[in-house]
Amino acid sequence: MAPSGVHMRLNYQTMIHAVYPGSFDPLHNGHVDIIRRAARIYDRLTVAVLHNASKQSGLFSTEERVAIIREVIEGLDGVEVDSFDGLLADYTRRVGATVIVKGLRAISDFEYELQMAHLNRQLNPNAETTFIMTATRWSYVSSTRVKEIAHYGADVAKLVPRATLRRLNEKLSVSKAPVE
Ligand code: PNS
Repeated sequence: MAPSGVHMRLNYQTMIHAVYPGSFDPLHNGHVDIIRRAARIYDRLTVAVLHNASKQSGLFSTEERVAIIREVIEGLDGVEVDSFDGLLADYTRRVGATVIVKGLRAISDFEYELQMAHLNRQLNPNAETTFIMTATRWSYVSSTRVKEIAHYGADVAKLVPRATLRRLNEKLSVSKAPVE
């Protein structure tokens, strides 16, 4: 019997499905770190790539971003990749996810993330936003900087997984090929 004052949680919680949304253009080591750590906390983790149907912006197409992530998460239990269009709140509702995972690199991320978390909760009160602090070693890494460094021909091998590096090299060598 539980000691008085201790409320035992007798109804075991069902499986927790979390969504880790982002642009992932492209996936870098900071993202991979968040995926691995979130996968240890939640039973099921969907890495959800934002697909903007009205305008495809960025270096990689949604399909390419998904392909990179698929390669990287291979063998990680309970982790899958998907893409979504429209509101994250609608997507979480549609797939029945009750948690949104976000990575926080620095205080500068916080204001934007706080606003998103409040709005997302208003739009879908059943999905709670949780934050994982990015590992210090990746706290300065962003997809924008990775693309910029790679664009100027410098090495980003220490910042991104192999799958991203290969596709970055392919993409940039194609864009630099002389036009016939
Ligand atoms: O990697 P990013 O660019 O920081 O990811 C941003 C993302 C995809 C998580 C965010 O833009 C998003 O959730 N977009 C979907 C549209 C939406 O729900 N907007 C919030 C309305 S409150």
